[in-house]
Amino acid sequence: MAMNDAREEPWYVAAFRSEYRTVYPHRDLESARSEVAWAHGVGIKGRVLDLCCGFGRHSLALRELGVEVVGVDLSLDLLRDSRELDGDVSISNRLVRGDARALPFADEGFDGLVNLFSSFGYFGDEGDREVLREVRRVLKPGATCLFDLMLPKKIREGLVPESKRKTGAGLLIERRSLEDDGRRVVKRVRLEEPGGGVQEWCEDVRLYEPEELDDLFEAAGLEVIGRFGGLAGEVFDGAASRQVVLMKRR
Ligand SMILES: C[S@@+](CC[C@H](N)C(=O)[O-])C[C@H]1O[C@@H](n2cnc3c(N)ncnc32)[C@H](O)[C@@H]1O
Repeated sequence: MAMNDAREEPWYVAAFRSEYRTVYPHRDLESARSEVAWAHGVGIKGRVLDLCCGFGRHSLALRELGVEVVGVDLSLDLLRDSRELDGDVSISNRLVRGDARALPFADEGFDGLVNLFSSFGYFGDEGDREVLREVRRVLKPGATCLFDLMLPKKIREGLVPESKRKTGAGLLIERRSLEDDGRRVVKRVRLEEPGGGVQEWCEDVRLYEPEELDDLFEAAGLEVIGRFGGLAGEVFDGAASRQVVLMKRR
């Protein structure tokens, strides 16, 4: 697993500071609102855990729909940024810091769980299995669970080795590669700030094939009941850009 050389910390700590939001500016509250509308319709209701909630955009959107959401994330920066979303409906007070591999919640306390925007595949085979054991543990029997993940085929076909763009925080250079025979996608990010500062970090995410995921989920006690091509419920066919997996906790 990749480490951030300078700070000797795992990549998934270094990659999710506030600067992360300059890499994915389109992943905002507006897109979250349309994404959770469909999720709500397929059973994401009641007391719901937003696992790896980031700065809470889906948590807030679910809250607006009356869902009793709780969010959990490891990144203090992103949790702090959630305060920017607080308005008529506030969300920052419903987000907690925690590790997906050891969730700070009691057994069988949630009616539903979402894991959105490629927030799985970070911890190696055993670490990823730990996450799924925790997912099962905190869900009530029969609870609904939704994972939104990259589709390996699409990533391999569409990989852009290098791109550069100007952002409000500086020049952003992203270099992407496939490693481990295409089983992992690695993105090295360099942010050149106007004052001369440079920040570098990487993302290193396991690409799970649909069949591999089915096996992993089933082994964890999560019954796969549907697979979709996106968070609007698109059909999972050759045109699918993502894999959105709908499950019931056994
Ligand atoms: C790609 S981001 C997605 C965030 C959010 N779901 C969204 O769509 O805006 C992945 C998130 O996983 C979080 N994360 C990484 N490692 C984690 C861990 N061990 N436990 C909990 N969250 C973690 C990161 O801090 C980051 O917020």
